[in-house]
Amino acid sequence: MAGLGQRRQTGEVAYVDEATGEKVVKLGGLEFPPRKVWMKTFGCQMNYHDSERILSHLKDLNFSKTDEKENADLILFNTCAIRDLANTKFYSQLGEIKHNKKKNEKLVVGVGGCVAQTEGKTLVKKYKHLDFAFGTDVIDSINDLVYRSYAGDGKFSVNAWDRSADFSIQTKITHGSPQAFVNIIKGCNKYCSYCIVPYTRGKERSRKCAEVVEDVKKLVKHQGIQEVTLLGQNVNSYGKENNESLSQLIMELDKIEGLELIRYTTSHPYDVSDELIEVHGKAKKLSKHLHLPVQSGSKSVLERMLREYTPEHFLGLCRKLRKAQPEIVLSTDIIVGFPNETEEEFQDTLKLLDEAQFDFIYSYVYSPRKGTKSAKMADTLPDDVRGERLRYLQKYQLGIQEKLRAPLKGQIMRVLVDGQSHQKGIQKWKGRTNCNRIVHFSPDKLEKNYLWHWVDVEITRATSLSCVGDIVQDYGRRLGGE
Ligand code: SAH
Ligand code: SF4
Ligand code: F3S
Repeated sequence: MAGLGQRRQTGEVAYVDEATGEKVVKLGGLEFPPRKVWMKTFGCQMNYHDSERILSHLKDLNFSKTDEKENADLILFNTCAIRDLANTKFYSQLGEIKHNKKKNEKLVVGVGGCVAQTEGKTLVKKYKHLDFAFGTDVIDSINDLVYRSYAGDGKFSVNAWDRSADFSIQTKITHGSPQAFVNIIKGCNKYCSYCIVPYTRGKERSRKCAEVVEDVKKLVKHQGIQEVTLLGQNVNSYGKENNESLSQLIMELDKIEGLELIRYTTSHPYDVSDELIEVHGKAKKLSKHLHLPVQSGSKSVLERMLREYTPEHFLGLCRKLRKAQPEIVLSTDIIVGFPNETEEEFQDTLKLLDEAQFDFIYSYVYSPRKGTKSAKMADTLPDDVRGERLRYLQKYQLGIQEKLRAPLKGQIMRVLVDGQSHQKGIQKWKGRTNCNRIVHFSPDKLEKNYLWHWVDVEITRATSLSCVGDIVQDYGRRLGGE
């Protein structure tokens, strides 16, 4: 099975059927008339990025996207295994599809992503209405898999790892927005004791720096991309196997004319080098926001998590980053209720929140994942304590954010508008700042379409989660010579 970036060369051939005037695609011995695909994605940005890639491949097989499950010829799920909640939602939706299959016998159903990587075979066996499952490293072969299904290959599951020498791909986008995700590294070698990702995404593999730079240049030149987010499970490990680094890549991308903003996610504190910290002060286009997951503020919990750093080291990184880039805004992830977390250990996390002054956090209750080291630990912490701690921590952090954000009132912030919002029945527009804060503003003319415009907004109200303001300048879709 060809892996990511290795798609077989014999491709689809398209022609127009003279009788119907419709486009038909021929692959192998099969003809594919226009069909509809409905897709549901769970999980992280990497999964959303993969889904976009899947849809882009499926276009070549004459599939177009539909939002109506009832109209679909093909239903796909792209799954996440990170916590039990994501799993449960997926299983209940997969169960529901049984009714769609009853109504439409020709319906083809496939499950991909992180659950499929480890559980694919079991899923296909267990769910009669599921036709095929595919892992995270075969998404570039989606058309072969769909072909197999239409060719009557019965039920099957594919979860092979890509064994090619290089990890090489070209970014595919199907949307018309100026923002693109660019996958620079896949997999993770960290094996934090609670985390399923190394098992669902495999070993770390980086794309070559020169390839990524060419890729981004093309996106900027031919597809109007102005903002890129470099993606990976641990982007700070980028390039190790090729003697390259994330700092080097960012400095190269910084030179691309027409590119306005570079973001990267997600980082592991262990691999944040001094060189990278320096780049935060140097690279003109690098976002002034960094998401740096700490997970816990307790030295002993971090040890049990196998995170390889101490709270002091983490706080040291925050200080150095703020020194290199005084405007930098930091955010993080926290896991509450790791096995046997004591009250004191929990309090240490609150202390860290006080010291680090994060602009926002994502926080979760610990969820044991089958096959991980921490799932094997004897754990006496009751679930209701976990829930209470999470609620307490979230409220605590909101207090920090409220204080931190109050001074934003009166500031002028540049925003890339990404959609409309409704606040108390009033129609507004919303977007994100360079430092990743959400800003809502009222239009100066009601009928004006601000989508993907760069605007300056004067903040009139800053709450713990968002800012509201008035537009003071509209630059249109390009910042121009600025
Ligand atoms: N690669 C990133 C994050 C991957 S998963 C990193 O290393 O930081 C996103 C977040 O989910 C993690 O940062 C962690 O906070 C949370 N998470 C991962 N496994 C979890 C588990 N078993 N239970 C609860 N939260 C978990
Ligand atoms: Fe999971 Fe992130 Fe740790 Fe990798 S670095 S094992 S993705 S939490
Ligand atoms: Fe979930 Fe897989 Fe992402 S487990 S968080 S979809 S890497």
